[in-house]
Amino acid sequence: MDRSLSPLGARERLIFALDVADLEEARGLASSLAGAVGMLKVGLELYCAHGPEVASLARSNGLELFLDLKLHDIPETVARAVERVAGLGARYLTVHASGGRAMLREAERRAQAARSSGALLELVAVTVLTSLDGDDLASLGVDRVPAEHAVALAELAWGEGVRAFVCSAAEVALLRSKLGPEATLLTPGIRPAGATVGDQKRVSTPESAIRAGADRLVVGRPIRDALDRAAAARAIVASIEDALEGGRR
Ligand code: C5P
Repeated sequence: MDRSLSPLGARERLIFALDVADLEEARGLASSLAGAVGMLKVGLELYCAHGPEVASLARSNGLELFLDLKLHDIPETVARAVERVAGLGARYLTVHASGGRAMLREAERRAQAARSSGALLELVAVTVLTSLDGDDLASLGVDRVPAEHAVALAELAWGEGVRAFVCSAAEVALLRSKLGPEATLLTPGIRPAGATVGDQKRVSTPESAIRAGADRLVVGRPIRDALDRAAAARAIVASIEDALEGGRR
């Protein structure tokens, strides 16, 4: 793809992972970052603690909502949950591609139906969790290496109409080459040069993830734990802008 044609601006490409359990803390973080990031990602911790109320964190700050609930159940159960999430106004919802064809098809069908009634919701397929290595896959009876399995699961989800995927920076170029320009690739494990790595094993700078083909970056601790969070977010946005500019030259 000529990525310079993408309508997404640098700030819209930055998704902040709101990884806290306390709603007041989450509110403070969301409002202090409202002008500096493009989207809020709410994961299981905050969602399990506060439920659908989390949608207001994004809405009241003019931000889009990414619900990272990683759904994996029988098709009807997942499809009904997709409808509920569409009603919350979320832009993205994660589902496990390993839930299988029927689950993906039914979930995508409900998301499309919701979109045709004005909802924003897009499904995002999670392929192989980055916490799993080749031995873990073997113990689950999977005889592919993680990268091959990730591609196979992404292609399965693609075949059922899913067009967005979570992948590490290490897999971005591979998935982009297999899925083409229409895929939306969301990449966590981002660390600005010199930042603390924490428990992430395979990290990438914002510039190199964007250059490799990521559409949006998911960043948590490098922003959450910074002394000046808005400044940390703006610095990442500036790096994204540099990488986009570099791609245009
Ligand atoms: O704090 P950090 O920037 O590492 O946060 C990354 C976010 O992305 C967390 O919310 C984490 O759960 C999520 N994530 C990840 N690796 C994946 C999928 C999601 O780190 N493979």
